[in-house]
Amino acid sequence: MELADVLSQAKEIVRNARDPQQALERVLELLRRVPRYDWVGVYAVEGGQLALRAWRGDRPTQHVRIPLGAGICGAAALSGKVENVPDVSRDRRYIACFPETKSELVVPIFRDGRVVAELDIDSEQLAAFGERDVELLKQLAEYLSALL
Ligand code: SME
Repeated sequence: MELADVLSQAKEIVRNARDPQQALERVLELLRRVPRYDWVGVYAVEGGQLALRAWRGDRPTQHVRIPLGAGICGAAALSGKVENVPDVSRDRRYIACFPETKSELVVPIFRDGRVVAELDIDSEQLAAFGERDVELLKQLAEYLSALL
């Protein structure tokens, strides 16, 4: 599935959402179908930690709670900046979830100017994410903000 198609469908899902959690799960279901997006999840900021709200992939992660500032996820939550890591083996901050993961992208989700959650995407390919992924996922993050 093309990321652009995920985006247009996500817009409708969010617009028509009755149950925010169910809507989030549906969007992640679509996002997982984008080639190279091997594990996708949303972590929410809760009491100084990131808590895994929803995910899609072949296997669950053990890291359902991540302290703010820890790992690539925690760094993005603190800075509010996108983290695009082309080779996780070369990033000292990286917290390993799956041995297959080669690259990772984390996109913060804002509400009222604050980071309330983030999108986390793992790929089994090196340097899987480009500028277009970042731009479209920032747009998706804006849509998802309404569910968090
Ligand atoms: N690799 C992340 C941890 C979350 S898992 O990828 C699902 C990190 O370094 O923060």
